[in-house]
Amino acid sequence: MPQQRQADTWNASLYAETARYVAENGDVILDWLAPQPGERILDLGCGDGALTEKIRQAGASVVGVDGNADMVAAACERGLDARVTVAEDLPFDREFDAVFSNAALHWVLRAEAAVEGVQRALKPGGRFVAEFGGQGNVSAIVAALSEVLAARGIDFTAVSPWYFPSAEEYAALLVDHGFHVERAELAPRPTKLPGDISEWLANFAPSFVSGFSEQARIMALEETRELLKASCLTAQGDWIVDYVRLRVKAVAPIARCR
Ligand code: BEZ
Repeated sequence: MPQQRQADTWNASLYAETARYVAENGDVILDWLAPQPGERILDLGCGDGALTEKIRQAGASVVGVDGNADMVAAACERGLDARVTVAEDLPFDREFDAVFSNAALHWVLRAEAAVEGVQRALKPGGRFVAEFGGQGNVSAIVAALSEVLAARGIDFTAVSPWYFPSAEEYAALLVDHGFHVERAELAPRPTKLPGDISEWLANFAPSFVSGFSEQARIMALEETRELLKASCLTAQGDWIVDYVRLRVKAVAPIARCR
């Protein structure tokens, strides 16, 4: 889901047309959340509210936050309580029974600030349930972009907006903030795209080429697509992206000194 890294560059209608599968693949982590009637739940990185709506349908009272105003407007059009707020700056204090997040936290490079805000937002003993890109996520795309950028003298890691931690690394961050980690697991989930990989790159990787001229941008993305054919394009003409999901479920401390 859109969060805030490239808040200005998200294209809500392109996302709605070409990335609907992001929310459609959220069922596993919704099961982990198991929202209950009457609970108050924060959906962190709610995007256009597709999963926020499902949480509401379960009978919970849900607040969605996202860094992108267009996405928040789309969520509000569903009649949801959605607000423009970035993950590193959550303004809530002991308000929620659960904080939920799907496909957003891989955009949050300042992961510690986000975990601090989640901890603050939760009632003592509240749960944090999240899924996002983990170690090894979209590795073919990372390799192709690295090669294309290196040919232009740019170091991928220096410009990447993506954070794909291992289960151990993220669990340690949660423990450092007083959480009890019930589960932290990596799950490979190769995903067939509904269209061409160029749409994926336009949706999710525009920042890598945002400083380029129009022509240089087109060339760099076309080169990336060419490189990806070998690993992501099937004989049937389908594009498969090598997603690896990191799923976590953790419980906030009962007692807090602040
Ligand atoms: C993901 O959902 O894993 C993802 C989406 C966009 C960019 C990078 C990763």
